[in-house]
Amino acid sequence: MSEQLITYIAQPGGHLSGKIRVPGDKSISHRSIMLGSLSEGTMTISGFLQGEDSLATLKAFRAMGVQIQGPDDQGKVIINGVGMHGLKKPDAPLDLGNSGTSMRLLTGLLSAQGFDITLAGDSSLSSRPMKRVTDPVIQMGADIESNDSDGKQGTAPLNIHSDAETQLKGIDYILPMASAQVKSCVLLAGLYAQGKTCVTEPAPTRDHTERMLQGFGYNLDIKKLDQQRSKICLQGGGKLIAGNIDVPSDISSAAFFMVGASIAEGSDITLNHVGINPTRTGIINILKLMGADITLSNEKEVGGEPVADIRIRHAQLKGIHIPEDQVPLAIDEFPAISIAAACAQGQTILTGAEELRVKESDRIQAMIDGLQILGIDCEGTKDGLIINGGEFGSGTVDSLGDHRIAMSFAMAALKAKGAITIKDCANVNTSFPGFITLARSSGLQVNDKKAVS
Ligand code: S3P
Repeated sequence: MSEQLITYIAQPGGHLSGKIRVPGDKSISHRSIMLGSLSEGTMTISGFLQGEDSLATLKAFRAMGVQIQGPDDQGKVIINGVGMHGLKKPDAPLDLGNSGTSMRLLTGLLSAQGFDITLAGDSSLSSRPMKRVTDPVIQMGADIESNDSDGKQGTAPLNIHSDAETQLKGIDYILPMASAQVKSCVLLAGLYAQGKTCVTEPAPTRDHTERMLQGFGYNLDIKKLDQQRSKICLQGGGKLIAGNIDVPSDISSAAFFMVGASIAEGSDITLNHVGINPTRTGIINILKLMGADITLSNEKEVGGEPVADIRIRHAQLKGIHIPEDQVPLAIDEFPAISIAAACAQGQTILTGAEELRVKESDRIQAMIDGLQILGIDCEGTKDGLIINGGEFGSGTVDSLGDHRIAMSFAMAALKAKGAITIKDCANVNTSFPGFITLARSSGLQVNDKKAVS
């Protein structure tokens, strides 16, 4: 199979300005297809993210017999829900590409459908740990075979065996790590389990699954156990009533522009209609602690999720020790935050972020390698990073096929002395189709170069 190799070349200097809208939220887009498909009735999604990851989820549900129209140019998708028990066995394994969210949530959702199914992914996804989702679902009674060749992590492909006899049992599960994917996996399996399923999370993580389930009429019991921990419980055997969903812009995509505008003198940019769910706003909190100039306006609630316009103006940043309670709330933003830290005065320290080692790449290593190539004094630690603010030179860095690493280094060019070349950027399309066009229209001088391998 030939694969497109995309290299970004970002020229130094410039600033970001204007009013833009970044694409739809990836986490909400995935969940809107999943829960819309299992609902009774027809529902419309607007602002659906047309990235490869959320499209992989959409295609998976089409392959399981759900009628889904769109997305059209505006990201409108119409789903005729098949109800909780209406999915059909697909003809082939579900190919989930690069998408960890699809694989981890579907492991729970598809573990007791009464048919066998295989979940497969690309080479990056096939090396990411899946035992964290198969373990609890197997404890609930599911039969899942993973690739155990490394003896530890239970990687994809995942073969789920289920027939008419399969019956899951509710579980009281304490999450070993702060992960919304694992939490959601167990809750979605819990919809099909006998009795009550509870998940206790060690720290707040994105709660889109809980919000959407409640929005679709499913009863959840959510208790805060202390400052950090919450317990979420539901009874299996209920049903979902479709509601329409307006997907806000993805704060994780907005993050690159927030960092770019903060570091580049003369910047003043407004990002419209961005999701500001408090379980996602670590990027705003952390940048503000670093001295960023960020203001929110037009705050409102859309379909159970808070949104706002976010204005960011250039400001001199300072290094900080990032509070550990912000880590799960900014878990996808550390590549971008590392660029901010490299432009800050003084030292920035990140701890308690070992999860970064098992994202689309080992993000601690990927950022350290790239920052060092660009002349920044920094080091990786077991669970984080230490970055001393400095100046970017120029050079060629490798994104390792990780969308967020690629877009972060593109923004670094705003403050670099020379051009930055970034290798292996095709996966930017998993979360941010149109990144180059939007970044260029805002003032980043970046181009992509395509080759076929
Ligand atoms: C996601 C949860 C996070 C995040 C990922 C999307 C989700 O993963 O990194 O990009 O939609 O639930 P973890 O649950 O592994 O932290």
